[in-house]
Amino acid sequence: MIVTLSQAVEQILSGEPVAIPTETVYGLAAPLFHPDAIQKTFRIKGRPADNPLIVHISDLQMLEHIADNIPDEVAQLARNFWPGALTLVLPKNSKVPDHATAGLDTVAVRMPAHPLALQLISVTGPLTAPSANRSGKPSPTSAQHVLDDFKGLVPVLDGGICSIGLESTVLDLSQKPFTILRPGMIGVAELRQVLKCDVTMPHNHKVVRLANETETDFENKDEKDEKHKIDKHGIDKLRKSPGTRYKHYAPLARVLWASSESYRTHHSRVMVIRHLAQTNFGTEIHTYDQGHVYSFHGDYEQFATQLYELFRRADREGYQTILIEPFPEPITNPVCLALKNRIEHAISQDSNLPETLS
Ligand code: TXA
Ligand code: MG
Repeated sequence: MIVTLSQAVEQILSGEPVAIPTETVYGLAAPLFHPDAIQKTFRIKGRPADNPLIVHISDLQMLEHIADNIPDEVAQLARNFWPGALTLVLPKNSKVPDHATAGLDTVAVRMPAHPLALQLISVTGPLTAPSANRSGKPSPTSAQHVLDDFKGLVPVLDGGICSIGLESTVLDLSQKPFTILRPGMIGVAELRQVLKCDVTMPHNHKVVRLANETETDFENKDEKDEKHKIDKHGIDKLRKSPGTRYKHYAPLARVLWASSESYRTHHSRVMVIRHLAQTNFGTEIHTYDQGHVYSFHGDYEQFATQLYELFRRADREGYQTILIEPFPEPITNPVCLALKNRIEHAISQDSNLPETLS
């Protein structure tokens, strides 16, 4: 059901999760200092308890009750990027409930750039909010996606279609060198420029396999050596962003990279996503015998706003395959890196990862 801002405030303050709009994706919000409400968000989503949440704030003062030993760099980053699609991982204040951080000694925080979210948080105080999708679905980028996932049972504050459409960049400031744990719209070059220091960007943000530990998403040798150290809460410290252990963003349709005209040889119902500027279709949508071609003509921001809607559409309309044109290497545009990261998570749905998603 769709609720008004004042109904959303009332629900949240009474400990009932509400889906709220942000500029990236919709989040399933609960008050940070209400552990029962936080646990409800895990249950509603079917999210594993070892995957920590992002805390959403509406002003910098709120940080004082959330993080400790806040590094000087936070002020600079906040000036440049908040409100916005940047999540900072900081040393946690002891008042923050363990449920929110899955027992980690760090906490992830961001100030979202959506007027309704900011207005809401200024009244309710800090809110935890994982993406408001049901386990197994791509993140929601519209109120309708949330209604679809939870069959209308979760109240939604409708703030329109998310203007970015991909989740925030997650930057770990809890140790040096600062590391991007999840690529997003705000890229490594911009961060380095503001921070005037090194920011590492693991080459390979691919999903980490649980069963046979042959692949890690970090190249750093020391971290590989730390691989088997598990803390008392069962969190593997190696995996800085525990969400990367789970399958993500996976539509039912099979997702594949496919160049040029190879889709024409496919025999199943196919959705084709092209994005290179020189793609020579005159219209955005081109129909052929077995499916549709969606072309973005080099407009990657537009592609980002549409990716999850296209994944969901493929499932609604019974496509068996989604073919996506590869990005020419090397990729420097942060939007393309974030898109590639999300697409590769969807492609790796055939791997041996657990079914639970974030
Ligand atoms: O754009 C976004 O970030 C959206 C909107 C709603 O703000 N939120 C979102 O939340 O994507 P979620 O829960 O789906 O993803 C949060 C990611 C997960 O990969 C999680 O593991 C990571 O952030 N994370 C949270 N706390 C962390 C921490 N203390 N250390 C490392 N990673 C953390
Ligand atoms: Mg998520």
